[in-house]
Amino acid sequence: MNFFLKSCFGTLILGSFLSANWDSNVVKPQLPADDWPTYGGNNAGNRYSTLTQINTQNVKNLTLAWTYETGDNTTPGQRGMDIQCQPIVIKGVLYGTSPRMKLFAVDAATGKQLWQFDPFANPEKRPRFHPVRGVVYWEDDEDKRILYSVGSFLYAINASTGKLIESFGKNGEVDLHEGLGDKETIGHDLTNFSIRVTTPGVIYKDLLITGSAVNEGGDAPPGYIRAFNVRTGKLAWVFHTIPLPGEYGYETWAKDSYKKLGGANCWAGMVIDEKRGMVYAGTGSPSVDFYGGARPGQNLFANCVIALNAETGKRVWHFQTIHHDLWDRDLPCPPNLITVKHNGPDGRPRMVDAVAQATKDGYVFVFDRDTGKPLFPVNEVRVPTSPALPGEKPWPTQPVPTKPAPFVRQELTENEITTRTPEAHKYVLERFQDSRKGSKYMPPSEEGTLYYGFGGGAEWGGNAADPEGILYQNANTMLWWLKMRDSRMQEKNVAMTRGSSLFNTNCSVCHGMSGKGSADAKASASTAQAYPDLTDVGKRLDREQINTLLATGRGRMPSFGHLSKEDRDAIINFLLKTEAKPAAPDIHSSVVTSPVAEGADFPYMPPYLNNGNTQFRDQDNYPAIKPPWGTLNAINLNTGEYLWQVPLGEYPELIKQGLPPTGTENHGGPIVTAGGLLFIAATYDEKIRAFDKKTGKIVWEYKLPAGGFATPITYMANGKQYVVIAAGGTRYGLKPGGSYVAFALP
Ligand code: HEC
Repeated sequence: MNFFLKSCFGTLILGSFLSANWDSNVVKPQLPADDWPTYGGNNAGNRYSTLTQINTQNVKNLTLAWTYETGDNTTPGQRGMDIQCQPIVIKGVLYGTSPRMKLFAVDAATGKQLWQFDPFANPEKRPRFHPVRGVVYWEDDEDKRILYSVGSFLYAINASTGKLIESFGKNGEVDLHEGLGDKETIGHDLTNFSIRVTTPGVIYKDLLITGSAVNEGGDAPPGYIRAFNVRTGKLAWVFHTIPLPGEYGYETWAKDSYKKLGGANCWAGMVIDEKRGMVYAGTGSPSVDFYGGARPGQNLFANCVIALNAETGKRVWHFQTIHHDLWDRDLPCPPNLITVKHNGPDGRPRMVDAVAQATKDGYVFVFDRDTGKPLFPVNEVRVPTSPALPGEKPWPTQPVPTKPAPFVRQELTENEITTRTPEAHKYVLERFQDSRKGSKYMPPSEEGTLYYGFGGGAEWGGNAADPEGILYQNANTMLWWLKMRDSRMQEKNVAMTRGSSLFNTNCSVCHGMSGKGSADAKASASTAQAYPDLTDVGKRLDREQINTLLATGRGRMPSFGHLSKEDRDAIINFLLKTEAKPAAPDIHSSVVTSPVAEGADFPYMPPYLNNGNTQFRDQDNYPAIKPPWGTLNAINLNTGEYLWQVPLGEYPELIKQGLPPTGTENHGGPIVTAGGLLFIAATYDEKIRAFDKKTGKIVWEYKLPAGGFATPITYMANGKQYVVIAAGGTRYGLKPGGSYVAFALP
């Protein structure tokens, strides 16, 4: 209320306006009182709690209440996995997932384990790890279920006992390939193609509506949005994000694309407006990332905010945030359902039910929830279309919202190059001068190009929003170096191992295909730099030395700390020639491992591939640009103006050197409470912090046992308010952890 009083409307007018409009057409967000019943806190995805026991006055006294050890990430030498899970709390029981994808239930007041479910207890299930960001609860009377996905299966688990519900799907599991197409409909069988659900779906009546995560290469199945019956596991409806002949949007692709191309998937989750019976989802780029020669056109419904009828899966409206994506600019987080004050068609202010979607490159699009009409005007802006790779037809315009201003930088200028040390500046400046840079819509090329916004920007942790229409958004400002290479140089008909495949994706752009020096690596003409031939690298370096080099990078060699330990090991085995012979295609890996037969049009083998996801860093592994590298933002979506922006996280060693907080890259989202607080971990410094949501000031912080790369929750149990975060660490070479940590007032 405070907020509205500060606006330019007289209180009298405002009063009558609210009473006239608030009750009639505004859906009150479904607020969790004591529980944290869903991923995202409520159906609107607002990561908002009405609890006030912990507030700005007493938060400084917050202390550790309990720790739950999942039992994973504790064995020395065992491969660590992070925990990206935001747990849920239903009637005093907390449900979450462990680093090795086990499902568990604990007493939310004590952290005492009630049960654990291990999807790999069945020895036939080979563990292939991927993030499980949350689970879904559904109940009908005594029938209480947890729905969660591991690999290509969806499970229903009895919430009271932790036992598989055998009547669901086939012996308790639903194959997520269901409804994607088969030999009859699309000409081939997709069962060996990787599909998983990393962010949980949403419940509407007896339906679980879900997106999926698929590969980003030519072996991606289509990312259809689907609904499954919660009781039976039966497929209820499918929305084709790559349209079939006769469906709306079919002409925005080349003919028959639905048979050959995949992606356009909602991997980051969705939200539901129960009263309207509508579900809102954001989708990712079509496959393959970075090259669109096989998919001329706008490519609906990739990179779209889509509103669907939750009952039928029929499209109500859509808005495409990137046409013909060439930059992997997936919509990286679920939308937020908010209610804001905007001028109506008559120029007079009114309350509007809206949906806000943040993007990897720093925009927030705000739409009318019923019509999809932008509340702040969006301009179609001309963008560069050349030079582009042969066969590529970049789309000539892209949508840019007039408000809010972007929450991350857009285009790299020399002025933004790091000045952390003179050496770092010099090192980065050289690469900067050797690379293409400019518009973030420059088409990718074989020359190296520097871009913002491949990674977020906004990220999978999503955003918090309070009932006043303020969006809280944590952001990364990272620079990426993209260099495309001609994939036809790939040795034909050689069955690739995981290691060689990873090498050719991540390393060959500099070291040549299979490591045979830069002669065949098409080094850009402007860079006469030599890259070492790695054919006999085993004679010079041992396993440990290569491992260290990959973790830290050196000179012009970037760090590959973001690759999993398993992937790095596979690459090292390939280099040291100690790898096993080609294994059966690994259906869960994110790289193309199956050899592509010449002339086959499926799986699609693009003529150009990218150089992996290479971040542009300095020789000491800090971001190559001036800080802030990570920020927290409060954006008023009534006005489109910022309330505040502050750095999020710090590097203790840089603080010691006298630098102000730089922010760090951050993964995991914020929550906000009626107690006036915003809680977030997500940073490299392994801390969880509370901010005053009005000012952005840090009012409490705690060093976690391991990095909290997840989104916290808050709830009441036995009369006490708790804040819980998963501390799984592991990312970015940080130490692993396997616990959930709870805080409360003493
Ligand atoms: C951006 C270009 C680039 C990429 C991409 C790259 N490297 Fe390098 N790499 C270099 C450069 C330059 C050096 C020499 C570093 C120095 O100055 O010491 C190097 C050195 C190495 C060395 C040490 C060679 C020796 O004889 O000392 C190894 C091993 C290596 N890279 C492996 C890899 C692997 C594995 C990958 C992929 C995961 C990779 N590199 C990706 C540029 C690159």
